[in-house]
Amino acid sequence: MGYAVFETARYMGKTGAAVKRALGLGSFCLYPIIFDMSINQPSSYVFPHKHLLGIEGLSRPDIEALLELADEEVILSRQVEKKKTSLRGRTQINLFFEPSTRTQASFELAGKRLGADVMNMSVANSSAKKGETLIDTAMTLNAMRPDLIIVRHHAAGAVQLLSRKVDCSVINAGDGAHEHPTQALLDALTIKRAKGRIEGLVVAICGDIMHSRVARSNMICLAALGARVRLVGPTTLMPAGIERFGFEIFHDMREGIRDADIIMMLRLQRERMHGSFVPSTKEYFRYFGLDDEKLALAKPDALVMHPGPMNRGIEISTDVADGAQSLIREQVEMGVAVRMAVLEALARRLPNG
Ligand code: NCD
Repeated sequence: MGYAVFETARYMGKTGAAVKRALGLGSFCLYPIIFDMSINQPSSYVFPHKHLLGIEGLSRPDIEALLELADEEVILSRQVEKKKTSLRGRTQINLFFEPSTRTQASFELAGKRLGADVMNMSVANSSAKKGETLIDTAMTLNAMRPDLIIVRHHAAGAVQLLSRKVDCSVINAGDGAHEHPTQALLDALTIKRAKGRIEGLVVAICGDIMHSRVARSNMICLAALGARVRLVGPTTLMPAGIERFGFEIFHDMREGIRDADIIMMLRLQRERMHGSFVPSTKEYFRYFGLDDEKLALAKPDALVMHPGPMNRGIEISTDVADGAQSLIREQVEMGVAVRMAVLEALARRLPNG
């Protein structure tokens, strides 16, 4: 039977219904995250999902098992011979409705390292009939019998919709301002490898929280793994009502990053802004951009992250981005490993997997 079995899980538990979009584009409700540590710990772990549509819905063991598998993929990826055969004979389609460099490239490399046939489809935005076009595309691709489809789309919920129309496994590579689960997993892996743990770390996620799927997936993932998550940004870029969900909220960057272990910077997601959210990029950088002077307020061994693409001089200075405390290059490397782990976990569930 094609189930992914991991030897790693130490906990049984659920993140619970962690995040629900509710208040329209860019706004959402968070429900308390509940862990159940009391259930017996299995000696082996079955990855129980057909799709990866979000971090929401994954249990802590699901996340930890993927991170453990990704650690193995890092070892493989650092060898001269980087190939495995776990996806041999499988067809992987990367269906990108939004521009992407690193995510698409990293899914492509991940699939190829596992031996899959990988096809890239970059679909230009169609205007009015987005839903219809998406479903038509899904049906067409489904007829080609792929095993895995990776989807990036500008509309929140589009990937879930597509997953209901196809027979294969679907991975969300970013849907609107909703979720970007593989980014959160690669961030967690990067932190875990750099700091040796995630539990108890203070992680400040800074900038355009409201429009960021990276922030959303990271909040759920990091909270599930026991980090103390702070959200830092101007009120105009903070989802309404977010303070009700247990995160520490800061509108002063200096306060928000004080004594933090990890500072995760976000890009201003202008493509999702309808109206003016910041007075000017110069002023934004002054108050919310990460430079050496602000970074000095965090813990001396604090590390800096950014999902890319970076806007130097807007949310982060070049000195910090390229400095000794930056983990940005490691994030890119971990991106390939995490995507390999996700592809492999899902592929083991496929018929004859
Ligand atoms: C992120 C995305 O697309 O959401 N980038 C990425 O996946 N590398 C963040 C961003 O675009 O700012």
